[in-house]
Amino acid sequence: MPRKALIAANWKMFKTPAEAKAFVAAFLPLVAGHTRDEIALFPSPVLLPAVIEAAKGSNVAIGAQNIHFAEEGAFTGETSLNQLQAVGGTHTLIGHSERRQYFAETDEIVNKKLHAALKHGIVPVVCVGEVLADREAGKTADVLKTQIAGAFVGITAEAAKPIVIAYEPVWAIGTGKTATPEIAVDAHKIIRAEVAKLLGAETAANVRILYGGSVKPDNAKTLLGQEEIDGALVGGASLKPDSFAAIVKY
Ligand code: 13P
Repeated sequence: MPRKALIAANWKMFKTPAEAKAFVAAFLPLVAGHTRDEIALFPSPVLLPAVIEAAKGSNVAIGAQNIHFAEEGAFTGETSLNQLQAVGGTHTLIGHSERRQYFAETDEIVNKKLHAALKHGIVPVVCVGEVLADREAGKTADVLKTQIAGAFVGITAEAAKPIVIAYEPVWAIGTGKTATPEIAVDAHKIIRAEVAKLLGAETAANVRILYGGSVKPDNAKTLLGQEEIDGALVGGASLKPDSFAAIVKY
């Protein structure tokens, strides 16, 4: 079975509830009836109830940008999986490079979050990617393998079924510097091979690997047209309904 692409919007720390609702109202008609790809929005936690309400009954899923691995507890500023589920969220990003870079998220934390999301039946989008210095030092493959192996500790092939991976080269995020399709495809192959090594060929063949990093309406087709690329995780260009819809409908 071919892998169904997932086109996802990571809004990062942008939008008020009113702006988020206006986005959804404008966006839904633009993608109504679109079934070729799955579509998901990842707003800030404070926006989740408004966005979930606005998208109810549509073909657009809603998830969190981050979750805590604990069930509940004294973790000021964090959001639990129970809280996400209680408001109707179905997906979560895990280990985005901005979380790794600014909030000291390690592969070990990513692994704990992955276990917790799977236990709750929340679809995890595990983000991996090398920084420019890694790429320039020829360490891209090592970094990707380490991040994948670290994320997947203790995960079985059966449990791994819902997992989505996003390859986001850090040097391409918010920089306008997109990875060429060749660079992205190479990285995806490295990631898929690592998944095969850890969990077998079938899991590797089924896992969706998204590309993220300066995806725009004008480069979406070239990237998403590659067999190895199973969707996109879009930052800046996902903030406007017409631009994100153009990417969805590349
Ligand atoms: P940009 O699309 O703004 O480069 O962001 C990519 C990203 O980090 C998505 O998670």
